Amino acid sequence: MAKDSFTVGLGNNDSLTRKLAEEDYVKFWEKEAEKLQWSEKWSKSLEWDPPFARWFVGGRINACYNALDVTVRKNGKKPAILWEGENGTSRTLTYRDLLDYVCRAANTLKSLGVRKGDRVTIYLPMVPELMVSLLACARIGAVHTVIFSGFSSQSIRDRVSDSKSKVIITADGGFRRGEIIKLKRIVDEAISDLDFVESVLVLEHAKIPVEMGRRDKRWADLVNAASNICEPEEVESTHPLYILYTSGTTGKPKGVLHGTGGYLVHVNSTFKWLFDVKDSDIYFCTADIGWVTGHSYVVYGPLMHGATQVMYEGALVYPTPSRIWEMVERYKITVLYTTPTALRMLMKYGDTLSDSKDLSSLRLLGSVGEPINPEVWLWYFRVIGKERCPIVDTWWQTETGGTMISALPGLETAPMKPGSASRQVPGINVGVVDENGKDLPPGKKGYLVIKAPWPGMLLSLWGDDEKYKTVYWSKYPKMYYPGDFAIRDEDGYIWMLGRADDVLKVAGHRLGTAEIESGFVSHGAVAEAAVCGIPHEVKGESVISFLVLKEGAAWDIRLRDELVQHIRKTVGPIAVPDQFYVVSKLPKTRSGKIMRRLLKAVAKNEKIGDVSTLEDEAAVEEIRSAFKELEREIEGSKLR
Ligand code: WTA
Repeated sequence: MAKDSFTVGLGNNDSLTRKLAEEDYVKFWEKEAEKLQWSEKWSKSLEWDPPFARWFVGGRINACYNALDVTVRKNGKKPAILWEGENGTSRTLTYRDLLDYVCRAANTLKSLGVRKGDRVTIYLPMVPELMVSLLACARIGAVHTVIFSGFSSQSIRDRVSDSKSKVIITADGGFRRGEIIKLKRIVDEAISDLDFVESVLVLEHAKIPVEMGRRDKRWADLVNAASNICEPEEVESTHPLYILYTSGTTGKPKGVLHGTGGYLVHVNSTFKWLFDVKDSDIYFCTADIGWVTGHSYVVYGPLMHGATQVMYEGALVYPTPSRIWEMVERYKITVLYTTPTALRMLMKYGDTLSDSKDLSSLRLLGSVGEPINPEVWLWYFRVIGKERCPIVDTWWQTETGGTMISALPGLETAPMKPGSASRQVPGINVGVVDENGKDLPPGKKGYLVIKAPWPGMLLSLWGDDEKYKTVYWSKYPKMYYPGDFAIRDEDGYIWMLGRADDVLKVAGHRLGTAEIESGFVSHGAVAEAAVCGIPHEVKGESVISFLVLKEGAAWDIRLRDELVQHIRKTVGPIAVPDQFYVVSKLPKTRSGKIMRRLLKAVAKNEKIGDVSTLEDEAAVEEIRSAFKELEREIEGSKLR
């Protein structure tokens, strides 16, 4: 039996911070806000007009100034990014280099007509220019909206149509597992008839030929010629910093809108409490900037602390599975922040890979994005961290802006329990409640809620306040509903138990079942589709699909391959189901909702439970037998 808790700390023991936060969370965050550079101080710390929170009202601030100029004034020569490409190329950018580059890019955006409040879509691989583009927007008060470079043209089209971006920044291509992904071509397809897009700025990175159209401009031509002086635009604290699209339970992805001042305060303080990064540290967060972890803990958090970080473009296990451990050895990485999926994959290769590399530089380890299984936590702790390194299992969401629940070695030394995300961050008020919103006693499974506004909280959903209210504030009118199951134990430790809704976490990527389903039905052969997630050894969850074909469509390998391509194109490669089941009807409730819980149970071969609300109970049996039949068929590898 594993020991149930471990205490390894950094020697920090600050009991005052939690005490202050409990006494008055608004005052507490106000104190934290004083750690940033404001050009004008706020007049009111919090305006709470539920469910809309405005933090540090009246204050003026610039995110890019806090991220770059503050360090440049102290030591511009400090390396900011140690970048490495999949094929081994590398680049180093100091804080001074980064600031100059950002100013040039910001002036370029201005010359393309981008003004304060305008949206700019960024679709780039993990190259320094991705970070530069975000900061260039922030410098001039434009709103960045990054799309992960693994997304398809249809996804780009939906997001650009919603945000109405004037300018898109992309590259000719990006590298992944030895292949080049032709990003510019994907953008061309996405925006061919979106006339409001005025310019596409194209970075030459993969050095492949691209077709340049009327709106296209080469990054190097414009950025190299621009001035490296650009005064930061001091914006109101509540001015939007970015939109980041993320999947929910209904239809298309939602544009999560984050403000500036409150968001930066939350990220700045949590970065310190989590990682306590010093000048001697080399920090490496493996997240792509296309996701929120990259926004908060690759771009804004580390830069506001003047950290030196490794940035990597490519797959962590390419060309060999020891790539990541070689990088730890090569750069003497001290803080490593990654995902349970990556760890499960690395753990499968056994201990010899990591044992053959020198990992003694590591002093702190982090995990994010999905629940981490206790055995994976223990492997991370023992094999990678040699029982010396504290582990932070950080729970948060795109919507929360920054970490909400985690161990905080930068603040205090407290026991860690493998599999628990630990306790709430100071200044955050988390609860576990039942269906009616009543607090549950320790040990009882319920819904996680957040009971008071916090600075990193989303402002709203882009252009849709009503949806914002229904999605997050209608289950419990006075509490934020994240959509996760949790248990709180006697010590106040939170154990996250996965999503309570129709959101999937596949290899750490957040996907909505509805998105994949509408991807399917947009194909001519599919009449209806339902998808669900079932546990997967490495990816955490894997997508299973149930399809009803249109009259005349025949199920064969050709159609299956076509559907795979179709989902890759409409949603993205990460959304492609691992299994396809063709059935003649889907089980639905009397009100017409697909019984996804039941599909899940069937797919996992579990007991079905209460099916009384099913329209047609025969559908259950039918699905079960279709499933069995297909399982046999797949086993014979006919459709693999
Ligand atoms: C899940 C990622 C368990 C959770 C930062 C949440 C986690 C969703 C953890 C948000 C964790 C994130 N333990 N589950 N440490 N971190 N999640 O928006 O279900 O991509 O609601 O943000 O990921 O995913 P998102």
